[in-house]
Amino acid sequence: MSIISKDIQKAIKLLTNDQLVAIPTETVYGLAGNILSEKAIKSIFSTKKRPFFNPLIVHIPSIESLENIVLNIPEKAKLLADAFWPGSMTLVLKKNAKIPDLITAGKDTVAVRIPNHPITLELLKQLPFPLAAPSANPFGSISPTKPEHVERYFKNNIQMVLDGGSCTNGIESTIIGFENDEPIIYRLGALALEDIEAVVGKISIKNKKEESPDAPGMLARHYAPSTRTYLVDNVTHEIKKHQGKKIGILVFKDSLNNTSLTEIILSENGSLQEAAANLYDALHELDHQQLDAIIAERFPDNGLGKSINDRLQRATFSL
Ligand code: TXA
Ligand code: MG
Repeated sequence: MSIISKDIQKAIKLLTNDQLVAIPTETVYGLAGNILSEKAIKSIFSTKKRPFFNPLIVHIPSIESLENIVLNIPEKAKLLADAFWPGSMTLVLKKNAKIPDLITAGKDTVAVRIPNHPITLELLKQLPFPLAAPSANPFGSISPTKPEHVERYFKNNIQMVLDGGSCTNGIESTIIGFENDEPIIYRLGALALEDIEAVVGKISIKNKKEESPDAPGMLARHYAPSTRTYLVDNVTHEIKKHQGKKIGILVFKDSLNNTSLTEIILSENGSLQEAAANLYDALHELDHQQLDAIIAERFPDNGLGKSINDRLQRATFSL
């Protein structure tokens, strides 16, 4: 029997009883548990096979509930929250004493966001506690953007995926931390850099492992299919290096018109937003076709193209 269901009351019951429920957000599906239940939090880590040094994002229903989670809010964090919440932005702020160390991996900061999905906002409003939720995939694998992706990963481990359809943004939230009250991007994501800079001015990016060793979303290889994946500027040129192999192709907007290849076009009309929304589903799709390799085309380095390139780069073996 399918574990996918639209029953919010059932989700509330499970979450209240220390169980996990996969929840829809506009970015990717999350594997959610009560932040105050040690049992639930531990099972998030064990279900994902996620190392305990990798902290979780806390999901809240409103800006008012932020006071229960963090200590102080820098001025620019307030500006960002007002501009983008509910939405695809996670803020890393000084944590308040009530937040368990398990959630933050012992750090004195906590990652928090208000997701923009009507079903999950409704769920969060009805629950008396916030939800910790990493992406609902085994550690290092491709994040899920459809309830079926989660079901394939975890049907034997969890009781329910709350059905919210396909995720409209399709890649993880942009993570912003603060150093001396100045914002810094820790993870590129579903919010374009230019839109953030329009609110707080020029912002630096620290999303390499060397610069932020304990934030594994920045691991060189992460968000990865099990099929060997290449990210290149010239797909036709790369194909020639794989003669006689079964190749899957991922392109932005233009078909290669080669019928002997399995090809997915991410957005025929060249929309970066649409390409981002389709990216992980395409990777899931290609990864299930027993291919020898996936060759992905590098995106333009602006707007969401930057975030898409970041994810595609981490999906490859070679850096
Ligand atoms: O869009 C999203 O952000 C999704 C949905 C479900 O909300 N969640 C998500 O969670 O992508 P996860 O756990 O897959 O990625 C969270 C990232 C990790 O790279 C983690 O290291 C980082 O956030 N993180 C969490 N707390 C942090 C902290 N206190 N300081 C720095 N990085 C932190
Ligand atoms: Mg993740």
